[in-house]
Amino acid sequence: MTEMLTDSFGRQITYLRLSVTDRCDLRCTYCMAESMTFLPRKELLTLEELGDVSEAFIARGVRKIRLTGGEPLVRRDVMTLVRRLGDHAKAGRLDEVTMTTNGTLLSKYAAEIADCGVKRINISLDSRDPEVFAKLSRRDVLPQVLTGIEAARQAGLKIKINMVALKGVNDHEVPEMMRWAHGQGMDLTLIEVMPMGSIDEDRFDQYLPLTATRDRLEEEFTLTDIADRTGGPARYSRVLETGGRLGLITPLTNNFCADCNRLRVTCTGQIYMCLGQSDHVDLREALRGENPEQDLNVALDRAMLRKPEKHDFEITSGSAPAVSRHMSVTGG
Ligand code: GTP
Ligand code: 5AD
Ligand code: SF4
Repeated sequence: MTEMLTDSFGRQITYLRLSVTDRCDLRCTYCMAESMTFLPRKELLTLEELGDVSEAFIARGVRKIRLTGGEPLVRRDVMTLVRRLGDHAKAGRLDEVTMTTNGTLLSKYAAEIADCGVKRINISLDSRDPEVFAKLSRRDVLPQVLTGIEAARQAGLKIKINMVALKGVNDHEVPEMMRWAHGQGMDLTLIEVMPMGSIDEDRFDQYLPLTATRDRLEEEFTLTDIADRTGGPARYSRVLETGGRLGLITPLTNNFCADCNRLRVTCTGQIYMCLGQSDHVDLREALRGENPEQDLNVALDRAMLRKPEKHDFEITSGSAPAVSRHMSVTGG
């Protein structure tokens, strides 16, 4: 057995976020510009190669794999990869295979996703108001997403709703979103917008510190911090009035890097050691060379040595994004 992945700060990597495509069928204003240049298809790793990369990580102690995008479900035949990874989960070689999706294609795929061994998924939903949703995502497809969420529920998948909290855009919907999500047995996680990639607006105008949102919620609800963890950066509270769980992801107001347990791999085979930094290590050449197994391990060791201590996101008026890469390249 080769060694576990441990970085120079003693953190063990057990969570791989694997982006299967940088493409998306939505254009959320905080994430992308309306007009985006996506990676040329010929640069993508095949689904088989993405499976091989995943297995190299599993052999080094990764226990959880999350498929991300862009939107993972727009990648053709992605279910073959979900099934391959699901088989590792069924055999006990992984604790969890999961995905983060915008929900537009869940009506089509939810049952199959569950059948592959996926137990829970995270679905991005920033508004339940059709007009706000259409403006925010630049696509008028809220009904399709809500039907997709219902299909996922029917398939028995546990669901966490991700909502990026945006000042003056959807912040007024937070209490109602929480009542709705909790009413259906779903967790709700609020996320601070992160300065990644150029968009058509100024993120300073969108940024809402979640410390303020929490204060406002506490005027109406009783929140008790709980120790539950889902493997990601969310910190949870139990909401007395709804009985549900509220997660907060606060990269700006409360840095959570000290117990970072993850690496991300892009659809072209680059390992990004930190979401908030640009440094990356290439896996594609190793994968396509003479000694893939050995060379992948060398690349993983190199990545571990270069994993930085923390991100340093900051949002000020008119400033350039902290990293030029969009969130959709690494799937967050
Ligand atoms: P769980 O498995 O449910 O804990 O999921 P998760 O929160 O790890 O995953 P998800 O894909 O739902 O991500 C939610 C948000 O957390 C996204 O906006 C991600 O960009 C953000 N996120 C995940 N990992 C990191 C990280 O290491 N650093 C920062 N700054 N944000 C992260
Ligand atoms: N800042 C914070 N969250 C973002 N997401 C996409 N772009 C950003 C950003 N710039 C969120 C999506 C999804 C998750 C994977 O990341 O809404 O919930
Ligand atoms: Fe697509 Fe997610 Fe970005 Fe919205 S936030 S454009 S759904 S990748």
